[in-house]
Amino acid sequence: MADPASLRAAFAAALAACKTPNDVKQVRDQFLSRKHGSVTALVKGIASAAPDERRTLGAAANALKQEIEQALDAREIELAASAPIAGAVDITLPGRVPSIGRRHPLTQVRERVEDIFAGMGYTILEGPELEDDWHNFEALNMPPEHPARDMQDTLYLASPVGISGSRVLGFSGPQVLGSSGSQVLGSEGAGRPATLLRTHTSGMQIRYMEAHKPPVRIIAPGRVYRRDNFDATHTPMFTQVEGLVVDEGISLGDLKGTLNSFAERFFDREIRTRFRPSFFPYTEPSAELDVECQGCNGKGCGLCKQTGWIEVLGCGMVHPAVFEAVGYDADRYTGFAFGVGIERLALRLYGIDDIRMFYENDARFLTQVPL
Ligand code: DAH
Repeated sequence: MADPASLRAAFAAALAACKTPNDVKQVRDQFLSRKHGSVTALVKGIASAAPDERRTLGAAANALKQEIEQALDAREIELAASAPIAGAVDITLPGRVPSIGRRHPLTQVRERVEDIFAGMGYTILEGPELEDDWHNFEALNMPPEHPARDMQDTLYLASPVGISGSRVLGFSGPQVLGSSGSQVLGSEGAGRPATLLRTHTSGMQIRYMEAHKPPVRIIAPGRVYRRDNFDATHTPMFTQVEGLVVDEGISLGDLKGTLNSFAERFFDREIRTRFRPSFFPYTEPSAELDVECQGCNGKGCGLCKQTGWIEVLGCGMVHPAVFEAVGYDADRYTGFAFGVGIERLALRLYGIDDIRMFYENDARFLTQVPL
């Protein structure tokens, strides 16, 4: 049988090792259980001790028993007090960082273009993606059967949708549309001209001029649709920004000055440009604006197909036939227009070679574009 001193020492060590209420219970059993407790055995042993030792041993054993009971109770209370409260939050844990989204590269590029032109005093317009033949083609000097229509693979609606008066359903832009639309709309059903997904934003020139007198200084960003394949350079839906300036005395010099300044601000550096003669039915003369290739500084590389130049947009002086279509006096007013593809600008700005990446929603790509 162990003596009180060694039991006290053993108990002190066991108590010190108690980390949970369950540990305390085990130690209590080890020392105090009725059947196997070592202190219980000590107390039971008093009766069989030599008579002269009984008194001291009895006192020591009972004192030890009491001491152990008190120490275990105290430890139990202590552990209960420091136990975590059910459902409590551990505020010392590091927080979970939410993944924060960002604006899509195409949105960023559109806003970059908008900022540049807003800074030059242009009004920004939105218009319908569903368009009628008049605004998309005819008023832009492309009458039915005009070969220039073939350049755009148009998506027509199977049956023309209800266009009431001059308003296209679903149009939520800021402009109240003019009356010319109704000129080409038959009064009911059968006479209605084709309705289509707009193939370009140029129709916004017509919509704006129908509702406003000169001077005009607008840009119209938005989605356009063509029956194109989905490949590295084509998508059936893409984004354009249309621009139009009309006033007395607007010249080709204004067009060149404006677009040169745009190119310089957009690419954020001094950049050489060239205006290459081209053809659009709604401008005369017409041009394509090329900028010096950034890949090779104009020396010629794979990106620019060894030409040193990258095509950026189409532009020109507004054709008098367009002014006539909207009732402007073509002898008094002149103007310039341009149309730029947002995807194409984004490809150039970020040095990307596949347009499909913009639509695949792959965060690894999207987060590489600087904010
Ligand atoms: N609408 C043309 C296109 O989609 C772009 C364009 C060219 C717009 C010349 C214009 C312009 O306003 O003057 O390819």
